[in-house]
Amino acid sequence: MHADPNQRDTSPSYDPVAHRVRAFGATVFAEFTALANATGAVNLGQGFPNFPAPDFVKEAAQAAIAADLNQYARSAGHPRLVNALAQVYSPLFGRTLDPMQEIVVTVGATEGIFATVQALVNPGDEVILIEPFYDSYPASVLMAGGTPVYVPLRGPVGSRSAAAWVLDIDELAAAITPRTKLILLNTPLNPLGKVYSRTELAAIATLVQAHNLTVLSDEVYEWMVYPPAEHVRIATLPGMWERTVTLGSAGKTFSVTGWKIGWAIAPPRLAHAVLMAHQWIPFAVSTPMQEAVAVALEQAEPRCYFAWLSALYQAKRDRLLGVLDDIGLTPMAPDGSYFIIVDTSKINVPVTGDSRRDVAVCRWLTGEIGVAAIPPSPFYSGPHQSLTDNMARFTFCKTDDMLEEAARRLQRVKIQR
Ligand SMILES: Cc1ncc(COP(=O)(O)O)c(C=O)c1O
Repeated sequence: MHADPNQRDTSPSYDPVAHRVRAFGATVFAEFTALANATGAVNLGQGFPNFPAPDFVKEAAQAAIAADLNQYARSAGHPRLVNALAQVYSPLFGRTLDPMQEIVVTVGATEGIFATVQALVNPGDEVILIEPFYDSYPASVLMAGGTPVYVPLRGPVGSRSAAAWVLDIDELAAAITPRTKLILLNTPLNPLGKVYSRTELAAIATLVQAHNLTVLSDEVYEWMVYPPAEHVRIATLPGMWERTVTLGSAGKTFSVTGWKIGWAIAPPRLAHAVLMAHQWIPFAVSTPMQEAVAVALEQAEPRCYFAWLSALYQAKRDRLLGVLDDIGLTPMAPDGSYFIIVDTSKINVPVTGDSRRDVAVCRWLTGEIGVAAIPPSPFYSGPHQSLTDNMARFTFCKTDDMLEEAARRLQRVKIQR
């Protein structure tokens, strides 16, 4: 978890470099991927697909490099990609998107988050982060000099459905002050797998409009939504287009997380602000990879790619849910994303030193059982981290062979009921 890197230490031994390094800390993914590699564990921790990206997507990248699309791209995005994005998203947003003014291509959604926060947050501004949050959110807010204000979703660990975790709208309202600028929303939500309902989003939208706020809506898992759940974009609710920056990710959508291509969709005023920050961060994004993502998006509909992807993940979700249920870990069925939270309360693992229980359990799962999982406490601020003591996050964005091997190893956890 990040401490405030801007806080000054007045002691004579103050080392400003070490201070910032300590404040940001290493991501939980770095620790658990290294542990999985060192112990030979099946890595159901980090959310990257280990299966091949679709051939039509890879071939488009190879062709783009061969065609010498190898120089700097337009800062706001390669024209073919922003046009393809406008084609795909216009019907989803219920409006004709202007590819040149309402879309900014970013270095993955991660840069979209960073650039949006840099663009909109002044030092001293407050930004509401709904917990659990993706771990780059607080880092981005702190680097802009903003103050994160945390509002946790609340729900029972051990419930069968991610939908049981809800936002207390009064708690959200109470967290808003005259300094609040922005709310960061993530639907479908990593790590819970919750998909916000239209009613929940409408309640958030009412507060956003009443307090003149902006929403950053991180929708990188938009294509991993499992019926009957439905992905609702907060930008499409009445009065919200003008107030929302929506983020997407080619890494998630086309199983190419290493390409780091993402996008921000917003009205011209907000998109321009994001672009003004983006031009000083990477300036522009890899041209051949943008060309390839453009081709991928152009071909996605005719190939029924999005429906195929969601069906693929739904089958993997159901398979891992079955395994986790069988061994007695009471998984929470996600309505979206490719993550499953389980209830680890019946696993008996000693917690030593200053380690949190969820971290200790995930280290044990990785080292002793041979299946890596991610502890969710880094997705919470310090005071709320105890909410995750009995939680671990598994991902199912892996080959069937890998899920099979994980299932075999996890039998050793089998809990007597
Ligand atoms: C909620 C969320 N937002 C953003 C990202 C980062 O997306 P990208 O890989 O496109 O930078 C992730 C990746 O795991 C994520 O889970």
